[in-house]
Amino acid sequence: MAKMEVKTSLLDDMIGVGDMVLLEPLNEDSFINNLKKRFDHNEVYTYIGSVVISINPYRSLPIYTPEKVEEYRNRNFYELSPHIFALSDEAYRSLRDQDKDQCILITGESGAGKTEASKLVMSYVAAVCGKGAEVNQVKEQLLQSNPVLEAFGNAKTVRNDNSSRFGKYMDIEFDFKGDPLGGVISNYLLEKSRVVKQPRGERNFHIFYQILSGASEEFLCKLKLERDFSRYNYLGLDSAKVNGVDDASNFRTVRNAMQIVGFMDHETQSVFEVVAAVLKLGNIEFKPESRANGLDESKIKDKNELKEICELTGIDQSVLERAFSFRTVEAKQEKVSTTLNVAQAYYARDALAKNLYSRLFSWLVTRINESIKAQTKVRKKVMGVLDIYGFEIFEDNSFEQFIINYCNEKLQQIFIELTLKEEQEEYIREGIEWTNIEYFNNAIICDLIENNQTGILAMLDEECLRPGTVTDDTFLEKLNQVCATHQHFESRMSKCSRFLNDTSLPHSCFRIQHYAGKVMYQVEGFVDKNNDLLYRDLSQAMWKANHSLIKALFPEGNPAKINLKRPPTAGSQFKASVATLMKNLQTKNPNYIRCIKPNDKKAAHIFNDALVCHQIRYLGLLENVRVRRAGYAFRQAYEPCLERYKMLCKQTWPHWRGPARAGVEVLFDELGIPEEEFSFGRSKIFIRNPRTLFKLEDLRKQRLEDLATLIEKIYRGWKCRTRFLLMKKSQVVIASWARRYAQQKRYQKIKSSAIIVQSYIRGWKARKLLRELKHLKRCNEAVTIIAAYWHGTQARRELKRLKEEARRKHAVAVIWAYWLGLKVRREYRKFFRANAGRKIYEFTLQRLMQKYFLEMKKKMPSLSPIDKNWPARPYLFLDSTHKELKRIFHLWRCKKYRDQFTDQQKLIYEEKLEASELFKDKKALYPASVGQPFQGAYLEISENPKYKKLKDAVDEKIIIAEVVNKINRANGKATSRIFLLTKNNVLLADQKNGTIKSEVPLGDVTKVSMSSQNDGFFAVHLKEGSEAATKGDFLLSSDHLIEMATKLYRTTLSQTKQKLNIEISDEFLVQFKQDKVCVKFIQGSQKNGNIPTCKRKNNRLLEVAVP
Ligand SMILES: Nc1ncnc2c1ncn2[C@@H]1O[C@H](COP(=O)(O)OP(=O)(O)O)[C@@H](O)[C@H]1O
Ligand SMILES: [Mg+2]
Repeated sequence: MAKMEVKTSLLDDMIGVGDMVLLEPLNEDSFINNLKKRFDHNEVYTYIGSVVISINPYRSLPIYTPEKVEEYRNRNFYELSPHIFALSDEAYRSLRDQDKDQCILITGESGAGKTEASKLVMSYVAAVCGKGAEVNQVKEQLLQSNPVLEAFGNAKTVRNDNSSRFGKYMDIEFDFKGDPLGGVISNYLLEKSRVVKQPRGERNFHIFYQILSGASEEFLCKLKLERDFSRYNYLGLDSAKVNGVDDASNFRTVRNAMQIVGFMDHETQSVFEVVAAVLKLGNIEFKPESRANGLDESKIKDKNELKEICELTGIDQSVLERAFSFRTVEAKQEKVSTTLNVAQAYYARDALAKNLYSRLFSWLVTRINESIKAQTKVRKKVMGVLDIYGFEIFEDNSFEQFIINYCNEKLQQIFIELTLKEEQEEYIREGIEWTNIEYFNNAIICDLIENNQTGILAMLDEECLRPGTVTDDTFLEKLNQVCATHQHFESRMSKCSRFLNDTSLPHSCFRIQHYAGKVMYQVEGFVDKNNDLLYRDLSQAMWKANHSLIKALFPEGNPAKINLKRPPTAGSQFKASVATLMKNLQTKNPNYIRCIKPNDKKAAHIFNDALVCHQIRYLGLLENVRVRRAGYAFRQAYEPCLERYKMLCKQTWPHWRGPARAGVEVLFDELGIPEEEFSFGRSKIFIRNPRTLFKLEDLRKQRLEDLATLIEKIYRGWKCRTRFLLMKKSQVVIASWARRYAQQKRYQKIKSSAIIVQSYIRGWKARKLLRELKHLKRCNEAVTIIAAYWHGTQARRELKRLKEEARRKHAVAVIWAYWLGLKVRREYRKFFRANAGRKIYEFTLQRLMQKYFLEMKKKMPSLSPIDKNWPARPYLFLDSTHKELKRIFHLWRCKKYRDQFTDQQKLIYEEKLEASELFKDKKALYPASVGQPFQGAYLEISENPKYKKLKDAVDEKIIIAEVVNKINRANGKATSRIFLLTKNNVLLADQKNGTIKSEVPLGDVTKVSMSSQNDGFFAVHLKEGSEAATKGDFLLSSDHLIEMATKLYRTTLSQTKQKLNIEISDEFLVQFKQDKVCVKFIQGSQKNGNIPTCKRKNNRLLEVAVP
């Protein structure tokens, strides 16, 4: 497997020694040799304790890959071979885990690799800190701020092709989890003189070259620029092209970066317009023009460039032109305008260009800060990365170098303070045994520069503010006076005679012995640069520009805000900002990267011993190692130390009751750390070797893991136990239910099986029993049958025998009787011959009669006269007797029946009898009348008031009162009449009112005629000559003909003692007045229903059709 071997210590596969502390013997040669050996093997990083020495390889090494990042991530500082990533990781982790703000101080000469180092630190932190869309955007913006600032603030110098011409301090802010929230960038003094003039072999700021190489034609045209570098006075012609640098592609990178950081399109546009304006300013040239007063006045040679600048920036051309020719000075509330000569005009032009550019740069930083500013107000942890311009020694060193080197002095100072001095002082304070180590303290140099009274900067300010003529020479003079005696100050004019003949030191220069070497500064320009003077006319002209960015860059140009107070000088501004920076750095935990340049040629693989030796010396690295070796790598107050490691010892875990120091003593004793490895100070424990600390850390980590495991174990145990108990409980419940269910099922099954078995057994038993019973029954039956047959046989035999016997006996008896009879008859024949036959016959007859009557008595029919039943006759010889007996019985029962009648009933029956005698078998109507009772008075004459008159007229008893139809003799039509029969008379009355129509005494009625058929017609014949007979006979029709005729007959009989003649014939004569008319009954059709119709056929014939 090609997997990288895992290193556990930097001692593994070490080239030379990775940590100078381990170097033996320790001297300058061995130190340099060690560095060289490592450098030759591509090991550019070496430790002095926790300080990283970085040697610029000047070529790209494959040690910054993402795999390397992963390798160093979360590893102990001394675990792997020295690397800038190890330092970054250490800083990031102690920021994240121990809540300590960090700062990374990168020092070294120009070109030693500081900027690269700062970028590596940032990219490492970006790679290991949190991830996520929001976090990534923050990271991206933080990283992309670099190309923008480098394009505007970096330039090629003789020392470095990408030299930072400004100081930069960047605070990266994190939240409690270690995710980046944003950042703040502070910039320090841009070397703006570079805008107008560059030393030989150097370039202006990158952005000018980038814009001309990279911008499209169209964009250039918009900015009124031409691609040719040589067109611009401000661009030094030599080395306009730098090897290995592609300005055009860098321009695209910058634009892209600006977009990512959050620049709006119009902002980018404005920025480039300002850049173009600065570039074009350099092309404005002046010519002298003599004036009347004999003084020269400057005039612009070619106004074309000016015009274009004004078009680009929206400045009024005349205003700007005037500002280049005149200068207004305000003194005692008076404005005095003076003309500028050519030199002054050039000075004004350059001042404007420098100011425009440096203010633009500051604006860029502010703008970037706005974008990368943390969005939350939560407490932040901060990691500061300081990448400041390195110590510089050029041929001509001016104010800028002075300032840069001052800054480096201060950084060295803080390094000394924090690592050497502070450390040693602490040992003494804490009462640790200590042998002092000599080192060079540069505080004295710092004092030379920044002392408020006698410092060089104070002198310069004093000189600048002094009234009267002030020049660089007067400044130098002053320095010579004040600083001449200072150890580190040298000048030809100084009182120190040893420099009087030093020809290497020109008169217009002074030299400072910096910690990193002697630097000779040209005094020329110090005053001007410190003053940083921009004529007010120019700033006002800028403020008037119709260009929001330019206007914003010159707020002091606003006439409303005129400030007569001089702005602070560049020197004092810088001093103040450096002081603030130092204060800031002191509050943070420092991490050092000390960059070393291996050669002056920017070449790879060359290791210049002398150059390196020089740097090692002034950086005080050897002393650093010595202090490190003599001292202790780590210290910590007892309380936090005990708090951090108390879990490593039983006595101190979880609580230590005594004083913290005693606790730590117990702890260290228990852990068996060798005594030479640590010392107890007054308030702190000092640990000599970092390895001891790492051992402690490892133990702690292990112990924490154990504790975590323990907690996890207990928790898991508890969780499992509760789960188990719950499961057990559930299991018991489930099991009980399941068992119950199973048992129930089993029981049911057993029960049903038992029932089946039982039923089978019962069935079987029953069948068996049945079989037995059946068998028994069959046996019984068989027995019975057999017995029966047997008994039958027996009985039959017996019967046969008995019958035989009886027959025999009977036969015997008969024979005997016959024999006796014969004997008797033989004997008595002579006596019986006369009477015996007769007597026997009578006796026998008597017996038979007796039997007949007794039987008749039993069989007598009912007493109803209409009962036709009569028992059959038993003997033929009784036939006549039987008939006679029947007749007698019938008569007798009729008598009996009649005896029950009342008189009235008797009358009715008499009438009925009479009717029978008269009409039976004579008139077809008769049988229908038998069942009808004779009522007589059908009309209630006495009751109905209508007939009251009729009633009154008839005083006799009414026998019949009934409505009849009187047939009209003329036409045969019928009219209703009331027919009344009294004792003596027959009356016909009107049906409606009862008026009597005719009255006939019964004696005058001679005959009544009627047909033999089923009709109700009858004629009442009257005696000829009687009173009634005048009108003729009556032809009437009635529903109760039989009754009427009968009653008429009976009444006539009882009154006249004569039998009324009743003629029954189908043809009879009726007297109509004088005529006799024949009434003939014929068989009629059924056309008119059952009612007979009567028709007069002719004078002699009246035909009645009977249906
Ligand atoms: N770690 C490195 N690996 C490769 N090249 C480097 C490294 N550090 C610096 N350099 C080279 O050295 C040059 C100068 O580095 P830089 O960081 O700009 O120096 P400084 O900021 O100290 O002036 C860079 O442009 C780069 O070419
Ligand atoms: Mg740099």
